[in-house]
Amino acid sequence: MEIRNIGIIMNGVTGRMGTNQHLIRSIMAIIKQGGIKISDDLTLMPDPILTGRNIHKLADLAKRVGLDKYTTDLQATLNDPHYEIFFDASGTLFRKQFVEMAVKAGKAVYCEKPTAVETKEALALAELCENAGLKNGVVQDKLWLPGLRKFQMIKDQGFFGDILSVRGEFGYWVFTGEHYDQPAQRPSWNYRKADGGGIIVDMLCHWRYVIDNCFGNVKALSCMGATHIPTRIDEQGKSYNCDTDDSAYATFELENGVIAHFNSSWNVRVRRDDLLTMQVDGTKGSAVVGLRKCWVQSAAATPKPVWNPDIDSPIDFYAGWQEVPDMQNYDNAFKIQWELFLRHVALDEPFRWTLREGAKGVQLAELGLQSWAERRWLDVPEL
Ligand SMILES: NC(=O)c1ccc[n+]([C@@H]2O[C@H](COP(=O)([O-])OP(=O)(O)OC[C@H]3O[C@@H](n4cnc5c(N)ncnc54)[C@H](O)[C@@H]3O)[C@@H](O)[C@H]2O)c1
Repeated sequence: MEIRNIGIIMNGVTGRMGTNQHLIRSIMAIIKQGGIKISDDLTLMPDPILTGRNIHKLADLAKRVGLDKYTTDLQATLNDPHYEIFFDASGTLFRKQFVEMAVKAGKAVYCEKPTAVETKEALALAELCENAGLKNGVVQDKLWLPGLRKFQMIKDQGFFGDILSVRGEFGYWVFTGEHYDQPAQRPSWNYRKADGGGIIVDMLCHWRYVIDNCFGNVKALSCMGATHIPTRIDEQGKSYNCDTDDSAYATFELENGVIAHFNSSWNVRVRRDDLLTMQVDGTKGSAVVGLRKCWVQSAAATPKPVWNPDIDSPIDFYAGWQEVPDMQNYDNAFKIQWELFLRHVALDEPFRWTLREGAKGVQLAELGLQSWAERRWLDVPEL
């Protein structure tokens, strides 16, 4: 049995996403499960080193997860041929600099979304990797969520007939931090433009790959943003001005005629099945897709409502939906994509969630901002 170690530089993973989803729930989980068993003769084993700016934070995190390799000297680590993969979960605005360093060092590149805040830059990073012949990928985690997998399964089985429309509702209340017993649960940079914040940049990247992969290619969009809450409290307890969008109301026209509308907001209280729900209506059936669950109502089971606001509804609308059962133990979505990327690097297996695909997300976000500024529909050119 050969155990093939794959050196991975994990940069900027002391943050929220890096620590939880990428280090603990993905890479450490793969190590704990004994690697990725490819065959009776071969297992792939991640061998991570943590890199970042603050040696104390790195040391604390390494200790917490049981690793002994960490450094602030990224360049020295990039120079070490043992490390085949460079992964970045640092701030969006630092991505370019880090990806360029990794490409120079000839590493395979995997990184968080958005890969940039401008399409030009996101595309340039993709081309940099492509021209250097380096394997590359971008996190598109939502595609492996159990809810979306269940949706994909019933869609492949023809459950919907023709899909007509999709209504996505994403969001929850992000506390402003003004009350000491209700601390903010997202980093403050999300609400500052100069730091790469804004919900359009953040979420339209996700909606691009979700829509393209699940419902059909996006052809055009109309988007309106808003900064509903103008001031919040930062990590140091200081008030700051929120100068970028914290809510977005976007409509997408798809090439196949489907219309998708997504509301995204950090200023809504949740009275729905999940933090993200997508209602998909088709001629033969409908589904409500959450992060982990998916509920369906077939044409035959559709009740017949009659408009009468003078009485309480005689129909319990929730009762007419059935949950698609779990068919297996669904692994963490980030971990699944990591395993696919590791197989891509080690075994040359296909991996289509590339930096070029990531650039499409940035493109949709940039067009969303433009649509809002110009108050008009915009076509989405091919990238
Ligand atoms: N896939 C998803 O669903 C998802 C969700 C949230 C955030 N993200 C993305 O992940 C990235 C990180 O977001 P987060 O919410 O974890 O933010 P965060 O602020 O918690 O983490 C950012 C990390 O980067 C580090 N960092 C910043 N500058 C650095 C530098 N110059 N060198 C090295 N490290 C540096 C910070 O110390 C911190 O550890 C962002 O690009 C964000 O858009 C993705």
